[in-house]
Amino acid sequence: MRNNIKMQKTHLISGGCGFVGRNMVKRLYAITTDRIIFIDDLSVGTHPSTWLTVPLSKKNQDIEIYGDDERLLFLKADFRDVLHHLNREENWFKTKYGIPVDKFADVFHFAAIVGGRAKIDGDPIMVALDLSIDAEFFFWISRHKPARVLYPSSSAAYPVNKQTESNTIQLKETDIDFNNMGQPDMTYGWTKLTGEFLAKITAAHYGVKITCIRPFSGYGEDQDYSYPTPAIARRAVYKESPFEVWGSGHQGRDFVHIDDVLDCIEVAMNKIHDGTAINIGQGILTSFRDLIELFCEFAGYNPPIKPLLDKPVGVHNRYCDMTWVKENLGWEPKISIKEGMKRVYEAVKEKEGLK
Ligand SMILES: NC(=O)c1ccc[n+]([C@@H]2O[C@H](COP(=O)([O-])OP(=O)(O)OC[C@H]3O[C@@H](n4cnc5c(N)ncnc54)[C@H](O)[C@@H]3O)[C@@H](O)[C@H]2O)c1
Repeated sequence: MRNNIKMQKTHLISGGCGFVGRNMVKRLYAITTDRIIFIDDLSVGTHPSTWLTVPLSKKNQDIEIYGDDERLLFLKADFRDVLHHLNREENWFKTKYGIPVDKFADVFHFAAIVGGRAKIDGDPIMVALDLSIDAEFFFWISRHKPARVLYPSSSAAYPVNKQTESNTIQLKETDIDFNNMGQPDMTYGWTKLTGEFLAKITAAHYGVKITCIRPFSGYGEDQDYSYPTPAIARRAVYKESPFEVWGSGHQGRDFVHIDDVLDCIEVAMNKIHDGTAINIGQGILTSFRDLIELFCEFAGYNPPIKPLLDKPVGVHNRYCDMTWVKENLGWEPKISIKEGMKRVYEAVKEKEGLK
């Protein structure tokens, strides 16, 4: 007799309690009936009890299982330790926890030391530890061969000489050329370039389906205050005046809402499997002064701007050309800056108990 019982798929999300990771955990839980294992050392990420809307159901040793359907499994661990176990023993989840995972379906690798501009410029060797996380990760997927893999690179991988005040271009995917390298943004950009290179090799030599993305400035309602968007929104909520900005405030970024980022990932993973990296942005340059003006408009006041010239600012302008994605994937962002930032503003007011 044929066995018609379909095995439940299991997805893996590293860095699942960080900004992008927790949004992906929530989305996968909402749109699938699959099991989701997510791992985070909580060095930056926040515990799932603070952002999941389903309750803790039970524990299996050090794994916390959430939801009545017990599909959400959280393991607090350094992802490298988990990879060490998996690299020594492919069925580690089965032998240690009794969780029947033969092959992971989709694997999203969001565990990384990121930390924003203060950390990228202030502690570059700590950020370089991403090389060790990624090296272990690519080694594991080259052996395990999950069904599909998402590797987040970054817009920081682009050569910095194309993002200066006198030379700003709308960055195209082809502006990273492994045969003719430019210098990326600090160790953070280098680790991402290395990751993209490893992704291409893992796809070509080991037959793993990999998609790479280069998100520009992702933002959203639940991003923490160490990032500029919610930090600026919060200061506007409290009507800061004069309004402080890092640097002159004329430096610009390409802000893209997290819901758009996740939509684009879904489309890209269906179509790209050879490690090709794509931009995810709006293709619109918005300066920090523009951003402040928008939040102050929501708050109903018009303060003078006070530049803080001793603060780190990164490249002058960073924004992308979304033509390749539009033409090849048929995808375009849907959430305008005004709509997305209004959502952030309202979320900050709620978080501050002002609604
Ligand atoms: N948010 C963006 O706009 C953006 C833009 C470009 C690229 N990215 C990339 O997307 C990924 C996720 O970014 P994010 O914004 O969610 O960052 P984040 O800092 O919010 O999330 C990273 C998570 O990884 C966890 N972590 C770090 N080291 C770990 C380890 N060794 N083991 C287990 N967990 C560990 C942290 O606790 C954190 O929760 C990163 O690779 C980042 O470079 C994000």
